[in-house]
Order: sequence, then C-alpha cells, then structure tokens
Amino acid sequence: MTERVAILVSGGGSNMEVLADSMTGDHPARPCLVLSNVPGAGGLEKARARGIATTTVDHRSFNGDREGFERELISAIDAHAPDILCLAGFMRILTPLFITRYSGRMLNIHPSLLPKYPGLNTHARALAAGDAEAGCSVHEVTADLDSGPILGQARVPLRPGDTPETLAARVLEQEHSLYPMVLRRFAAGDRSRVDLP
Ligand code: GRF
Repeated sequence: MTERVAILVSGGGSNMEVLADSMTGDHPARPCLVLSNVPGAGGLEKARARGIATTTVDHRSFNGDREGFERELISAIDAHAPDILCLAGFMRILTPLFITRYSGRMLNIHPSLLPKYPGLNTHARALAAGDAEAGCSVHEVTADLDSGPILGQARVPLRPGDTPETLAARVLEQEHSLYPMVLRRFAAGDRSRVDLP
C-alpha cells in the first residue's frame, strides 16, 4: 500500500524538494500535500511546480491562539488523508493537541546532533562550544521539543574559519541525503536508526 505524505514548511523548502523528488518508482510513499504557515513561502511554489496540492494556514490570523491555529491545520491536513507527516523547516512550536493526533507518524529534521542543541541557532552554538563536529538529526515528533526517538543522524566535521553560515550550508547538504533516506525506511515500516556517513 502506498503511504501518503504531507510535508509542512515555513521557508524555501529545499528539504521538501528532496523529499518530494525521492518519492517515485518503487518508493513506498507519495506526497499528497505541502502546507505552509507562511503565505508565499518559497516551498509552496516549488510544490505547485511538481503538481503537488498546496495549502496555507497563516498562524498570524489566529492572534496567538495556538490551539485554534492547530485545529485549522488539522482540518487542512486531514482533508488530504496523509499517513505520514514530515516537518521540513516548519517553524512553529506545536502543542500536544497537534502532536498527539499524529503521534507515531510525524517526523522532523533538526540541524544538530540531538540531544545537543535543541531549539534555534544550532550552528552558532556548536561553533561557540568548540565542537569538533556538527550535523543533523531526523526524529519522531513527541511532546518535548526536538526530543523524540532519533531515526537518523549525519555528521559534519567543523573546519577552521567556519561561520554559522558556512556550517549551515554543509549541514543542509547532509539533511538532503539523510531525510529522504529515513523517510523511505519509515514508510516501509523500518524505524531502525541510520547514521551517515
Ligand atoms: C533546515 O536547516 C532545517 O533543518 C531547519 O530549517 C531549515 C529548512 O530549510 N529546521 P529548507 O526550508 O528545507 O530549505
């Protein structure tokens, strides 16, 4: 049975692109929706160009009513009956209302080697700490921010002279390898962890 995948984005959607493009041939899943909380987010246009249904739920029109926003998100998502949700640069903190609804079938990509550096500014924090390596993690989304079971990680050695920007660019390349690999396995029912390289 083909799994239906909804991808949630807030920005340019480069992870969405590689996920969507990976779901062809004998892949066990297909994209059914790209949703953004940001009207005009670059990811929406990229999805439309691929013939994927898109929708926008603008969090700003809910004036801080997080659950109201999430109820609207849920109804927009469930209209497309996805089996799996992929957060791909979706920059909203989600409440238990949303998380419990999609429990066990929602993935996120985070630009650090979790459990190090949940939250924002991960690359600057890795550099400030003098870490030898940075990276990214794909994890299941649970009620605690960036703390669900880790399904895969990719490591990126730091280089002398790295800035948060140069590091982010190298980590993003690894995100683009890791996330499709984890999604393919997850859609086939395999939740064992992968490590790159
Ligand atoms: C990625 O670095 C992701 O890890 C982070 O936001 C960025 C999204 O980039 N949460 P894109 O929209 O997929 O290009």
